[in-house]
Amino acid sequence: MLAGKRILLILGGGIAAYKALDLIRQLGREGAAVTPVLTRAAEEFVTPLSVSALAGAKVYRDLFDLTDEAEMGHIQLSRSADLIVVAPATADLMAKMAQGHANDLASTLLLATDTPVLIAPAMNVRMWQHPATQRNLATLRGDGVRVVGPDEGEMACGEFGPGRMAEPPAIVAAILAALASGPLAGRHVLVTSGPTHEPIDPVRYIANRSSGAQGTAIAGALAALGARVTFVTGPASVPPPAGVAVVRVETARQMLEAVETALPADAAVFAAAVADWRVTTEAASKIKKDGSGRLPVLDFAENPDILATVARRDTSRPGLVVGFAAETDDVVAHATAKRLRKGCDWIVANDVSPATGIMGGTENAVTLITAEGAETWPRMAKEAVAARLADRIAAALGG
Ligand code: C5P
Repeated sequence: MLAGKRILLILGGGIAAYKALDLIRQLGREGAAVTPVLTRAAEEFVTPLSVSALAGAKVYRDLFDLTDEAEMGHIQLSRSADLIVVAPATADLMAKMAQGHANDLASTLLLATDTPVLIAPAMNVRMWQHPATQRNLATLRGDGVRVVGPDEGEMACGEFGPGRMAEPPAIVAAILAALASGPLAGRHVLVTSGPTHEPIDPVRYIANRSSGAQGTAIAGALAALGARVTFVTGPASVPPPAGVAVVRVETARQMLEAVETALPADAAVFAAAVADWRVTTEAASKIKKDGSGRLPVLDFAENPDILATVARRDTSRPGLVVGFAAETDDVVAHATAKRLRKGCDWIVANDVSPATGIMGGTENAVTLITAEGAETWPRMAKEAVAARLADRIAAALGG
């Protein structure tokens, strides 16, 4: 999806630089030509040789010599790229960028160009939260710099909080979005997909027959129109599409948490087949047959309704919330009522009676229900349903 794209990748000096090696591999797989630049500090974390080997390209180092300058001046180096990516972007690099310093190769490249820039910050949580860094971040955003991450979690220094560099797939998705030119370019769309698994004990769970095929196709179709897609998926039986940021979850409660973390979004499509109930009697160890003939008894609690929770948010409600309704009878009537009950803008209704072969199959026959009414689409491949829905979403968002 990045064939022919030239990316100048600046690696800053931080422990997250090791993840940039994986990023280079993933960019290569997507067809991008990566020109790596190492700051002097980055060389303390990764070697020029490993970076060069993975990128299949010469590494430009802080200690560049006059031959480099004669072969390819730094101005040309940054101007010939389609996108400059700074990963990891350290607090120091962000400060230099915000101030317009040009006192090493990386900062000079960044100042000597008007090529779009994407940064993936990575630093200690206190450094990230410091007013100086937040001020620099605001300045950079104001300058049109795109930002991906940082993630929240355990840090190499042992502290917990925001500051971990975004994972390489999320950076690739942000790169695709930055280079995108489709009607959804610059838009963030959230998609849930797949079944959820609700554990009974460490080895058993309750699941459903959803393959994740329709949600996967929708996420792919939205990315193809230029959207930055966050794809929150339960354990599906089809692989996630290329070019989206994948967040894998198992249970409904994990899915809700991942969805709320991914907000804000311009639109959200809830294609997941979320388990309605979870087992409250989940056993810490495997439930055994004890020979007495006694059968296990399971107790259930209702899972949170992710779609309704998001659709009814007061803050950060996506501009367009799309739900699905898998029904086996009176499809349109039930789905129309469901749209109002859940507070979503659109419902995509489908008949999942076994005779239709839709659940787990390759085709879908849907009715799109909006405030204007119901619109039945002919039966078609799930990819075609996805493409049509993505077009409609783009139109609704003014793309
Ligand atoms: O109520 P029902 O499961 O039929 O609603 C289907 C819609 O609601 C789908 O869009 C599904 O992704 C969403 N849903 C949800 N959380 C639940 C149950 C359903 O987001 N706990």
